[in-house]
Amino acid sequence: MGLKSLWDAHVVPRMIKCACASPAIAELRAGIVPLAQGQVFEIGCGGGLNQQFYDPARVTAFAGIDPSARLLDYARDAAARKGWQADIREGIGEDIPFAANSFDTAVCTYTLCSVADPAKVLSELRRILKPGGTLLFLEHGLSPEAGVARWQRRIEPVWKPLMGGCHLSRPVTAPVVAAGFEVDAPSHTYMDGMPKWAAWMEWGAAIKPG
Ligand SMILES: C[S@@+](CC[C@H](N)C(=O)[O-])C[C@H]1O[C@@H](n2cnc3c(N)ncnc32)[C@H](O)[C@@H]1O
Repeated sequence: MGLKSLWDAHVVPRMIKCACASPAIAELRAGIVPLAQGQVFEIGCGGGLNQQFYDPARVTAFAGIDPSARLLDYARDAAARKGWQADIREGIGEDIPFAANSFDTAVCTYTLCSVADPAKVLSELRRILKPGGTLLFLEHGLSPEAGVARWQRRIEPVWKPLMGGCHLSRPVTAPVVAAGFEVDAPSHTYMDGMPKWAAWMEWGAAIKPG
């Protein structure tokens, strides 16, 4: 195994779990993940950090996919601690292994930054949602400030290979809308305590038209 493969297999999962577990990010998760209801699908569920925020009284079934074997272990552990049945599989968002129109809610947090093809992933999320179903998203991405965006583009080529393919400069809400979802009043903020180039967050509920 080469250095890059060792880094990706052993270091990146630990860094992701650590970086994504900050109390400030947990606060944002707590505002969006508990809205999930019915049959729920989570893309990039590795790490399992959202498990604690699902409301078991609202969720009738849970399924999730992630390509990282190490992060899937964390997710399965978190689901076991929660004490519920969770169908957690290895897979990629560009080819979601579930039938069309089968979920009420899809959850996507801090994952569109890392996928190979965000447009394909969003079209897959739209496919698996029932008409009227909801995509709950929470992502970091392209700052609306030109100066910050410039720094995001400068830093990205160094950041991306170190951080498991994470992009700093991807727009968040615009591609969700472009994929055919209806997004009403998305929210955004710069997170405190982070450099601005890593701190721009957008989140919201996107509806698949019925
Ligand atoms: C920054 S981590 C976020 C993990 C988790 N979603 C969270 O909110 O803590 C990015 C996640 O995206 C996953 N990922 C990368 N490429 C993916 C793809 N093509 N399809 C689905 N998940 C992917 C990674 O394995 C990793 O679990």
